[in-house]
Amino acid sequence: KPHAPAADAPAGCPAAAPAPALFTWEFAADPYPAYAWLREHAPVHRTELPSGVEAWLVTRYTEARQALADGRLSKNPVHHSESAHGKGKVGIPGERSANLMTHLLNIDPPDHTRLRRLVSKAFTPRRVAAFAPRVQELTDHLIDQFAAKGEADLIHEFAFPLPIYAICDLLGVPREDQDDFRDWAGMMIRHGGGPRGGVARSVKKMRGYLAELIHRKRESLGDTPEADEDLISGLIRASDHGEHLTENEAAAMAFILLFAGFETTVNLIGNGIYALLRHPAQRELLQKSITAGDTGLLTSGIEELLRYDGPVELATWRFATQELTLGGQRIAQGDPVLVVLAAADRDPARFDEPDVLDLTRRDNQHLGYGHGIHYCLGAPLARLEGQTALATLLTRLPDLRLAAEPDALRWRGGLIMRGLRSLPVEFPPER
Ligand code: HEM
Repeated sequence: KPHAPAADAPAGCPAAAPAPALFTWEFAADPYPAYAWLREHAPVHRTELPSGVEAWLVTRYTEARQALADGRLSKNPVHHSESAHGKGKVGIPGERSANLMTHLLNIDPPDHTRLRRLVSKAFTPRRVAAFAPRVQELTDHLIDQFAAKGEADLIHEFAFPLPIYAICDLLGVPREDQDDFRDWAGMMIRHGGGPRGGVARSVKKMRGYLAELIHRKRESLGDTPEADEDLISGLIRASDHGEHLTENEAAAMAFILLFAGFETTVNLIGNGIYALLRHPAQRELLQKSITAGDTGLLTSGIEELLRYDGPVELATWRFATQELTLGGQRIAQGDPVLVVLAAADRDPARFDEPDVLDLTRRDNQHLGYGHGIHYCLGAPLARLEGQTALATLLTRLPDLRLAAEPDALRWRGGLIMRGLRSLPVEFPPER
């Protein structure tokens, strides 16, 4: 459970300004006031995380962007000063024991460059665009399940299943096995920020399944025309200067695509619908433009929803490989640095009226997908899923309303992700 350490008032900070408590339930529900305080008084702030690990939080846009692109900040946990005894406290639970460490979010150049180039050959914008009809079909199928009921929990019945089935399809996980993934993913999302044991067990099961699937796909490579091949087969086929992915690298790659592409998209859809339900004028504007067949506002609107209340609250771990200075703070070699994307994207020094949701916002270079060499590989897929989900939902259920008081909604208390546990809605049943 998140605990409630009051952030220490940083040295030199007037005692009159009360330091906010971080990682409490109240903070999970609305972290933005605390982030405003940190941006102003302690933009590079050292704190103890709920796991007991000490880390720096970077909350201003300029320093956040700088840190995301700084080659001295490594993604590899071997650079964590505590890695010897802090084993397993950073990164994705279970990835170490399941031998899934060699994925993009844990490695630096030159390995990162090689693996990213390989996966980019398989995960092309063309492959994603060709997937649009399937995403539409999945979206409609999920809405069909609850449209006649007049009520639904949009997290469990919509935002949660859509990305898991979509990514399974894209990777080439047979339909009959996809419910296993739904269960494993459910375990990860339920326990996010809580006990790590259940998540680790699910990761292990997923690992076993992926190893077998990759083996089978390798055996049958060439049975399907290359253009119709699934992503795992594309990965196995992809080579870089004659070098193929090892079995282990392929499993880690499939795993990170599932992991990075799942809860993020759940939260994009969940947080996005919630923000629209709380801003009726913006929602009406969007609904009108969708009905008129104009996709411009949907495109800029998804970006604004990402900026306003994005799925990834903190970028994944980085570790200083040498002593460095960031925002005037001295960061020691081995220290973990967490870039708070949600805080940077509300920085008034970068965005006009940052706390206002404005779907027409221009010059919206938010950091919701990160920045630099680890910029989100799945952004085209996330945009496709987000746009399809929101447009279809608002078209089919135009009178959708929240069926709970906002104060009664619970946010998951994980560290990296920001999302609702449930989103009860009601609407006139579809006939
Ligand atoms: C990386 C956000 C959806 C795959 C990242 C990063 C962010 C991010 C912030 C950078 C992390 C860092 O620098 O520490 C998001 C958001 C999404 C989303 C907000 C949904 C709205 C997806 C999807 C996929 C995906 C659908 C794939 C199916 C990846 C991968 C990386 C990544 C593989 C690592 C790239 C690298 O290290 O080179 N994402 N993501 N993401 N994302 Fe996404």
